[in-house]
Amino acid sequence: MAIDLFDRAGRSPRRTATVFTAVTCTALTLLATSCARGEDDVASEQPSGDTEAQAQVLDDAAGSDETCNIEQFGMEGFDLSEMKVGFSQSEAESNPFRITETASIEDEAEKRGIELITANAQSEFSQQISDVQGLMSQGAELLIIAPLNSDGWEPVLAEAERKQVPIVTIDRQINGTPCEDYVTFIGSDFVEQGRRAADQMIEALDGEGKVAILLGTPGNNVTTERTKGFKDRVAEKAPDIELVFEQTGEFTREGGQSVTEQLIQSEPDIDGVYAENDEMGIGAVTALRGAGKEPGDVKIVTIDGTETAVQNIIDGWIYAVIESNPRFGPLAFDAHEAFGKGEDVPVELIISDREYTAENAEEELPNAY
Ligand code: AHR
Repeated sequence: MAIDLFDRAGRSPRRTATVFTAVTCTALTLLATSCARGEDDVASEQPSGDTEAQAQVLDDAAGSDETCNIEQFGMEGFDLSEMKVGFSQSEAESNPFRITETASIEDEAEKRGIELITANAQSEFSQQISDVQGLMSQGAELLIIAPLNSDGWEPVLAEAERKQVPIVTIDRQINGTPCEDYVTFIGSDFVEQGRRAADQMIEALDGEGKVAILLGTPGNNVTTERTKGFKDRVAEKAPDIELVFEQTGEFTREGGQSVTEQLIQSEPDIDGVYAENDEMGIGAVTALRGAGKEPGDVKIVTIDGTETAVQNIIDGWIYAVIESNPRFGPLAFDAHEAFGKGEDVPVELIISDREYTAENAEEELPNAY
C-alpha cells in the first residue's frame, strides 16, 4: 500500500489519543500495514509488553510543517534493514522513563532484525558526546539520540555530517538546524504538558494557594518548556496562585525528596507541588509523608506516567499525572526507514499524551510504565 505516512496535508485539530489512533493509521506510512490488520495482530507486534493502547500516537495537528528528505540532506538512499544503528541514552536507567525508552528501541530493532549498538551516558554530558563518537567509530550508519542537553553538540554534528550519518533525536531536542544537523525530532509538546499540569493544579486548589515547582535538570528544552507552560497558564488563569519556591530536583527521586525536605522547612504550609517528572514527585511524597502529612494535604501534579506515580494517584498522594510516553522505538525506526526510502519526513514528530487522574487511574494503570 503506497501511503505517505508522513504526509501532513489535511491535518486536523488536536484530538485525544484514542481518536488519534485512527488518524495516525491514515497519516503514517510505515504503520499503515499494521493499521489494516486486526487489533490482536497489532498488539502482538508491539515491543515486548507494549499494547496498542500504550504505543505512541502522533498528534498530527502539532509540530512544524517543514519536512526533510534524503535529497535535501545530500545523501544516497538506503535500506534500513541493512544498516547498523547506534542508540545513545542520556540518563541512568533508574528512572522508568529511561528503562522503557531503551527497551522500546532495543525491542523494535530486534523485531526488525536490525543490528543495534547502544551506550548510556549516565547523566554526564561529556560522556554522551564521547559515547556518540564511539558509536560512529564502531560503524553506526544511523543514529538515534536521546540527548541529555540541548546545546553543545557541535563536535558530534560535524562528525556525523562528515561521515554522512543521519540523526533522529528523541524525547529532548538538539539545538541545530533540521535537515542539516539532524533529520527529525520525535517527542511531546512540553509547553502543553506544563499548561495541562497547571490546569490540574488550578483545579486541585480551586484557583488559590501557595505552589512550589520541582524543576527538571537545567540545560534542556524539556525543563525550560514544562516550566514555561506551567507558569504562563497559572499567570493567565489563576492570579491567586502564588509560586513561592522553585529548585531543581535533577529529575531524580532523591533530588525530589531532598528539595521537598528543604521546601517543608521554608514553606511548611505549602498547598501544591508541581514536579516536572514523576520521579521527583514520588520523592516529594516520601518527604511529605516523613513530615507527617496525609494523602491529599498537599496537591501534587507530575509528568511522565510511571506505574508508581499512577498508583500514588489511587493512593491519594498525587492529584494528577500528565503523560510523557517514552515508547519511541516504532516511530524512531519508521522515521529512519521513510528517510532512507526518499520520503518527506516532518522535522518534528509530536506525540499526543494522555493524562491520569483519580477518575481514570485504576482503569489506566495498565498503560503506565
Ligand atoms: O526528557 C524527558 C524527561 O527526562 C522525562 O520526563 C524525565 O523523567 C526524564 O528524566
